Amino acid sequence: MGSTTGCDPQIDIQRLTEPAKQVERYIDQFVGQRALPADLAEAIRYAALGPGKRLRPILVVRSCQAVGGEEAAALPAAAAIELIHAFSLVHDDLPAMDDDDLRRGRPTLHRHTSQAMAILAGDGMMGLAFELIATRIKPADRALAIVRELAIGTNDMVAGQVYDTLANFDQALEPMQRLELIHRHKTGALIIAACRMGAICGGADKPTTDALGRYAEAIGLMFQVVDDLLDVTQTTEHLGKTAGKDVAQEKLTYPALLGMDGSRQTIQKLRQAAHDALKPLGNQANDLAELCDYMAQRTR
Ligand code: IPE
Ligand code: IPE
Ligand code: MG
Ligand code: MG
Ligand code: MG
Repeated sequence: MGSTTGCDPQIDIQRLTEPAKQVERYIDQFVGQRALPADLAEAIRYAALGPGKRLRPILVVRSCQAVGGEEAAALPAAAAIELIHAFSLVHDDLPAMDDDDLRRGRPTLHRHTSQAMAILAGDGMMGLAFELIATRIKPADRALAIVRELAIGTNDMVAGQVYDTLANFDQALEPMQRLELIHRHKTGALIIAACRMGAICGGADKPTTDALGRYAEAIGLMFQVVDDLLDVTQTTEHLGKTAGKDVAQEKLTYPALLGMDGSRQTIQKLRQAAHDALKPLGNQANDLAELCDYMAQRTR
């Protein structure tokens, strides 16, 4: 990412995102040791190992380290959350949903293969994520706690996609409340799961896990406000996914409701809330604070 991020040069994104390589190796090996049909394995690798930012697995690793855990202890959970994220993107892009042809600068999976394979590869990545936790995380009570977080995050993400897709849900809510509900679910939920899973991998107590959960709530919502903003301010070429989609599909977004300045102010408020949530962790949370700043300033 380096100098092309357009971010504050003090943010060393190269160093912060270092764990991404280990996570990719972990996913690649896990898919390889599993007897899957060759076409399915290829589709899963295409979706899960394409050029994405890997922010959720990085949050797992950095949250684990922020509570005193080792990177290695976080890798299975980090790989699992990226598999769920990749599944969510593959299904998000399907013709019945956002109907996108471009993802991470390449054809979407259903364009690269077929709709049937994209549906099945998404289903498969969800199964693999839970299999990975059940078989690779010890002791059993830790695996159970992590399964719980990932299952809640996945189901909340799916609920958010339903709210986003069927925009007329719950007309009793004000537009702003509906918008927050969509974003906190479709995007916030997996980011909350990532940070809480990382804390659990590092053996954190409940108050510390909850503090990281509050940090994640703020950056999770912030992440989608930024995504909405980039959809209107960046080009398709720069984003690697189709720009201007939200207006074209009449999505309920922050720029649509609050305008550009209002969206930017929301990002700053959420950024501050995330920093406040990290205070109990002291200096050990410096990397998470820096990641938050990167997420507020990213341009793709
Ligand atoms: C895109 O997520 C979908 C949203 C939740 C906004 P990312 O922006 O993290 O996508 P990749 O993984 O880097 O491609
Ligand atoms: C995606 O939201 C959320 C999930 C994939 C769960 P968007 O539809 O805004 O994501 P992009 O813009 O296609 O990446
Ligand atoms: Mg969508
Ligand atoms: Mg989309
Ligand atoms: Mg978007």
